[in-house]
Amino acid sequence: MPPIPPTGRIDVHSHMLPGIDDGCADLEESLVSIEMLKQAGYVGTICTPHLWPDMFPDNTPANIQRWADELVEQLNERGIGYALWPGGELRLFNGVIEWMKTHGVPTLAGSKYVLTDFWEDTWPKYVDQAMDWLMAEGYQPILAHPERIGIAKLETLTKHLDALTARGVLLQGNFRCMTGEDGYLQDQRVRQFLTEGRYWLMALDMHRPDALPSRFDGMQMVAQEYGQPLLDRMTIEQPRRVLGHIQ
Ligand SMILES: [Fe+2]
Repeated sequence: MPPIPPTGRIDVHSHMLPGIDDGCADLEESLVSIEMLKQAGYVGTICTPHLWPDMFPDNTPANIQRWADELVEQLNERGIGYALWPGGELRLFNGVIEWMKTHGVPTLAGSKYVLTDFWEDTWPKYVDQAMDWLMAEGYQPILAHPERIGIAKLETLTKHLDALTARGVLLQGNFRCMTGEDGYLQDQRVRQFLTEGRYWLMALDMHRPDALPSRFDGMQMVAQEYGQPLLDRMTIEQPRRVLGHIQ
């Protein structure tokens, strides 16, 4: 694992690895993204390709480690200073526990933290079961972008989120939802969840470089509406907790 840069922002949710999922299509896009991230104050990224066997069967913790090492080599050859760690965004599905028993648990940078998501418009039982299994095994699950979950009734969604966070699961919001580009509902919910202090982390969830500017816009909106200290906590301090640099 690379040393942790002492200052600067670190993104914990990123589809930067080239040609792996619906993120950067090739090395050129990854390099352009890194340049843009550096200009926005980022010093490192945890690479979190989708782990979703139906859609991306080759994406396993072992392969992601290898692909992240390959991108690090490309950066080293070019003399680009930017820290990269392997991780994953684990799609929760019926059977995900068995999948983890076979392929291993995709942690963020070898930590105890595990980034998860799901895309149902109801709250499936397997979500709570997978979260409970992870915690029983000593991992710390994080649910990505709860503001994007398609449950129409806010009360129903918050009831499930309350139960989940009460059991110790952490929530990560997406900056781009602030801009309205992910939808009106998401725009409302990300602000409500920020106001309620539900997020432990926020992240860019970058895919390809053309969409990075709107993600940076969302980041600036968080600073303007909720204050720079909150933005810095979400992008500087909390990622270093994930990496084990801050207790
Ligand atoms: Fe993602």
